[in-house]
Amino acid sequence: MRIDIITIFPDYFAPLDLSLIGKARRTGLIDVRLHDLRRWTHDRHHTVDDTPYGGGPGMVMKPEPWGEALDAVTGDAGGTPPRLILPTPSGPPFTQRDAVRLAGEPWLVFACGRYEGIDARVAVDAARRMPVEELSIGDYVLNGGEVATLVMVEAVSRLLPGVLGNAESVAQDSFAPGAMDNLVEGPVYTKPAVWRGQEVPPVLLSGHHGAVDRWRRDEALRRTARNRPDLLDRFGPDDLDQRDREV
Ligand code: ADE
Repeated sequence: MRIDIITIFPDYFAPLDLSLIGKARRTGLIDVRLHDLRRWTHDRHHTVDDTPYGGGPGMVMKPEPWGEALDAVTGDAGGTPPRLILPTPSGPPFTQRDAVRLAGEPWLVFACGRYEGIDARVAVDAARRMPVEELSIGDYVLNGGEVATLVMVEAVSRLLPGVLGNAESVAQDSFAPGAMDNLVEGPVYTKPAVWRGQEVPPVLLSGHHGAVDRWRRDEALRRTARNRPDLLDRFGPDDLDQRDREV
């Protein structure tokens, strides 16, 4: 997968050199390209923002550098265009479902806005040539799209074949589509079997896989009820079995 990121702070993306994503980049599984938006400014001060029409606080990102940057990065000569992602707190929520969907794309471009956002004509213009979508990573306001882009790039990259060592761990994640859909994961344990007076739940040492699966589901249900009751509300009548109702 190719991922282009346009930003006024390329240094924000240093973490993409680390750990599993760093390794995936070095082995060529993901091709991440960073672009400094100021490269597409033409004044001495490399200006990327201006005051908002209609008044109000803050600054708005100027359309011209963004238009030139997107033309240069996405190319205008043939070929399948990328999907353009605009991180913004005004977008629909980014979920695991979106991560799975975006992991199926060959080429993503993230446009990181700052200040009060990017002049709205940039998205309209880009949509003439490529699919464009706004996405929010949560109901809070960050200083710009950089951290949101890091979040989405990590959530997408770890789903690509070969990026994680163990494909099973992706399938069993909280929010992974499938068996435990709509449940968060329960607690996990490793050695030693007793630590500071606390024992690991005995069922996990029993070697009885059926009992372990049942225990994990019970714990996932309890934790979901405690931390994310909104997720349980999405359960249909067929999603709960008889044992679930007793938890
Ligand atoms: N930019 C600023 N806040 C954001 C958020 N919550 N999600 C995505 N992009 C953002």
